[in-house]
Amino acid sequence: MSAITPAPEHRATAFGADVLHVEDLRVEYVTSAGIATAVDGVSFTVRAGERLGLVGESGSGKSTIATALMRLLRPPARVAGGRIVVDGVELQGLSDEAMRRMRLATIALVAQGAINSLNPSARVEDQILDGLVDHGRAGRREQRRRVAEVLRQVGLRPEVARLFPHQLSGGMRQRVCIAIAISLRPKVLVADEPTSALDVVVQHQVMETFRAVQDDLGAAMILIGHDIGLMAQFATRVGIMYAGLLAEIGETRKIFGNPLHPYTRLLIASITTMERKTELKGIPGLPPSLIDRPTGCPFRDRCPFAMERCAVEEPLPRPVDDRLVACHLY
Ligand SMILES: Nc1ncnc2c1ncn2[C@@H]1O[C@H](COP(=O)(O)OP(=O)(O)O)[C@@H](O)[C@H]1O
Ligand SMILES: [Mg+2]
Repeated sequence: MSAITPAPEHRATAFGADVLHVEDLRVEYVTSAGIATAVDGVSFTVRAGERLGLVGESGSGKSTIATALMRLLRPPARVAGGRIVVDGVELQGLSDEAMRRMRLATIALVAQGAINSLNPSARVEDQILDGLVDHGRAGRREQRRRVAEVLRQVGLRPEVARLFPHQLSGGMRQRVCIAIAISLRPKVLVADEPTSALDVVVQHQVMETFRAVQDDLGAAMILIGHDIGLMAQFATRVGIMYAGLLAEIGETRKIFGNPLHPYTRLLIASITTMERKTELKGIPGLPPSLIDRPTGCPFRDRCPFAMERCAVEEPLPRPVDDRLVACHLY
């Protein structure tokens, strides 16, 4: 199997309006060792119908972004700046009640490790019904119909509704998590490492299911992962995260065809020499501490092209060859 098969080209007109807009997002964790800046000024937009992949090493801030999008960050995390606009609504200004109504109905998250967080003592149908009932959607009969419908959409037989999580395989549990996430037809769907716990064949089936449900909803999707090969096949655009920053973001085809940021280049080079499911460990060195972040570029200590300027001046994302790159080389 070839490691990288870019997603088919999509014309710009294939996508709808901006439904998710993140601007200069900053998130900190207040720890006994100091304040860790886990997300340090991240901006991106996702349009209806688009699938944005966020890729990066463990600890690069991916889950923190996903959690911030749901406004579910809890201490010691705090949003230190920036704005998030979902379907035209700025999240900061919302009451807790209004935010609760947006979750699932407008923006839904399949959280990291979700397949292990299903309620072990509740049947699948009751776990799907929870969201429908909570949002006061339709009568009992209509709700049951919707449960059957979403199960079918994620490729599960209707009988699965009566089963408990322990009676399901990992792939089936992940499908249940997808069913819950799409039950109210959200406009933004976020999936955080949705296939990490699954074997390679099941990973592909689950990704195909995501693709099908996202197509059907016409939703904007964010797919978070560290498997850059899988991302190349699935995402229409990719953002490469490094130490809380977006090193490079653009169309998948552009980035895989001609990676520009040295970190992206090393990441893509590393997968040709490794098994696909491997974590991103092929690059020597470690990411910097997020506490008292050093000045300049956070990648400079591992970068083969580092210059003096990289130690003193943080590179800001700049448009280069149809994408944004945060590097002084450009
Ligand atoms: N509960 C926490 N307390 C303190 N720091 C945290 C906590 N969760 C995450 N962090 C910090 O945020 C960084 C980013 O974490 P995370 O968003 O989970 O990364 P990823 O999902 O990319 O692996 C971590 O490197 C860590 O420094
Ligand atoms: Mg994570």
